[in-house]
Amino acid sequence: MPSQPTGATLLKELSSIQPQTLDNDPQARQNALSLSRKLTAALEDPTNAAVDMMFAPFIPSAVRIAVELHLFESLCESESPLSTAKLGDLTGADSLLLNRILRLLASINFVQESGPDRSSTTPTTHAMANPNIAAGHRFVWDILVEANVQYHHFLKETHFKLPLEPTDHVIQFAHGTKYHTFEYLAKLRPDRFTDFHLFMGNTMGARSYWVDWYPVAERLLDGLDASSGSLLVDVDGGKGHDLQAFIKKFPDTKGKLVLQDLPEALASIKDGDLDRRIYKQDQDFFAPNQEVGARAYLMHHILHDWSDKYALKILEPIVKAMKRGYSKLLIHDLVLPDAGVTSYQARWDMTMMTFNAGMERSRSQWQSLLSAAGLEIVQFCHGPDGEDADGLVEAVLKA
Ligand SMILES: C[S@@+](CC[C@H](N)C(=O)[O-])C[C@H]1O[C@@H](n2cnc3c(N)ncnc32)[C@H](O)[C@@H]1O
Repeated sequence: MPSQPTGATLLKELSSIQPQTLDNDPQARQNALSLSRKLTAALEDPTNAAVDMMFAPFIPSAVRIAVELHLFESLCESESPLSTAKLGDLTGADSLLLNRILRLLASINFVQESGPDRSSTTPTTHAMANPNIAAGHRFVWDILVEANVQYHHFLKETHFKLPLEPTDHVIQFAHGTKYHTFEYLAKLRPDRFTDFHLFMGNTMGARSYWVDWYPVAERLLDGLDASSGSLLVDVDGGKGHDLQAFIKKFPDTKGKLVLQDLPEALASIKDGDLDRRIYKQDQDFFAPNQEVGARAYLMHHILHDWSDKYALKILEPIVKAMKRGYSKLLIHDLVLPDAGVTSYQARWDMTMMTFNAGMERSRSQWQSLLSAAGLEIVQFCHGPDGEDADGLVEAVLKA
């Protein structure tokens, strides 16, 4: 077994980082963050680490209660610290209950304790007050975590087989439905489906868009043949945030930009939210794709929702629509290393396994999936946001 670095070694490595690089070098910042997490793990007593984990789920549970009460918004709207009694008036919650939630939130720096029974904000309070992040918390907790807590029961019943079927996995088991996740959300949980779309339109957080680090000019615009088909088809693009970013970066580019999704997803886009040059198109991704011979087909956070069996069914119509030697498929998902996956990456993988029996894929898993679909990988691209951010897999039809 490889030996773990000691606290002393990690501390030495951390102290060798130049403080000024933390502000101007994203790589150095990532490195410091990763080392400090490893240092925390190395310093923790192993028994305490094991016991602490038992109680870890109560943290996001308290955060979910605070989201329900709009506690973060109330704190952000006030110019001065608020007493717990005042927060009780604003949220309608019992003040002793609030006091207990607030002290947990202060212990994780989600709010600041400015004195006994007084709270104010930290930068994380402001992030939590962002409506899109709050929507993500509601969606992930109410739909995914509430199902995930039953995963061990489900897997025991199914003899620990890897779940592959979108209509027979833990969502159906835990929520008592026969619908697959998207149908269940659309038909029975419209409030959480709205949250899902709000969150999905904003999953980039502070990360840079692919158009900022993938060589768009060289790989897509050079050699563009407008007579062949569209320039860029965002296959199931949700609210169209990727095409918006594309137009912002390349405002003068000629070429058709197509946003495909299910009619209900497209209908949730408000007038004026989308640039007029973006053409909205109803498209079920299991059906033949209407955009033949496009320069590029983008799939952002699509394939990780599905097991390989369904990913291949989704890829088939795109492969049929692609023009050999011209069209490119751009897959925007995590690209896990074959070893040394980070906690964040592994949590996304578990999220996908819960969401729709999907998965995050490693380099070699992408290679074998795409090869089975008749595609070959040209390159894996990564942006400046470090290993936890999505990568881009560029693939073309096999020669
Ligand atoms: C995880 S979201 C990703 C959306 C978008 N690409 C983004 O990055 O924000 C998955 C999308 O797949 C769409 N979807 C689910 N089932 C579909 C189907 N059968 N045909 C077409 N789109 C579907 C959903 O409406 C949703 O917009």
